[in-house]
Amino acid sequence: MKQLFLKDYDEVSKVASELFIEEINRDPSLTICFATGSTPEGLYKYLVEANHAGEVSFKEVKSFNLDNYLGMEDDDENNYETYMKENLFDHIDMPRENWVVPNSQPEDIEQYCRDYEERLIKADIDLLLLGVGENGHIAFNEPADKLYAHTHVAHLTDNTITVNSRFFENESEVPTKAITMGMGSILRAKKIVLLITGEKKRATLNKLLKEPFLNPQFPVSFVWGHRDVTLITEKNLVD
Ligand code: F6R
Repeated sequence: MKQLFLKDYDEVSKVASELFIEEINRDPSLTICFATGSTPEGLYKYLVEANHAGEVSFKEVKSFNLDNYLGMEDDDENNYETYMKENLFDHIDMPRENWVVPNSQPEDIEQYCRDYEERLIKADIDLLLLGVGENGHIAFNEPADKLYAHTHVAHLTDNTITVNSRFFENESEVPTKAITMGMGSILRAKKIVLLITGEKKRATLNKLLKEPFLNPQFPVSFVWGHRDVTLITEKNLVD
């Protein structure tokens, strides 16, 4: 795993954006998988700036997203589609038909998961962005004895519900279920960029660095089994 230890959140965001811009400029029609959450907000800000400055174009880029809560209305501020529009899609030159965020209210959820996985396989993700939960989850693959390979319905752990309640009025409003790409869907990507930032992720980062095992109780550890992962993090978080 390539590891970049940088000064602070802003530098992590900037360097991650440079990596994305370089990849897109090398192959302007590549397929990306995006993540939501607090971590990539800075990266998206830099990508928007670079797009406006003419340094990168998203006209031919195609994208998927890792996950979404289930049961959210289209315009709900916590729907990950809203997040992606507000942070990125509404501000760049990417055509609407080129991006997909998992539907929060599909009619037949099992069929939808199968179709999403099929689309991912066909699209063959070139570049995939990951954040990590404090408990080591990636997308909504929560710690467990066995991890799902494919896109599936996930039940959020109490820890994730508590951590994510910061975006809601209270904890009881956080959905308990989500649709998420599985570990296989993620690890099939040709290149993975993992961002870990913020004091709250100190223990998570150090566990990842010090325990090079594939541990289903710590899903992010599976990046150790991938051939092209770049971890970008803050150097002051390393113990
Ligand atoms: C979001 C996602 C999640 C987040 C993780 C960290 O699409 O897949 O796994 O990456 O929960 O979230 P933040 O960045 O808010 O700490």
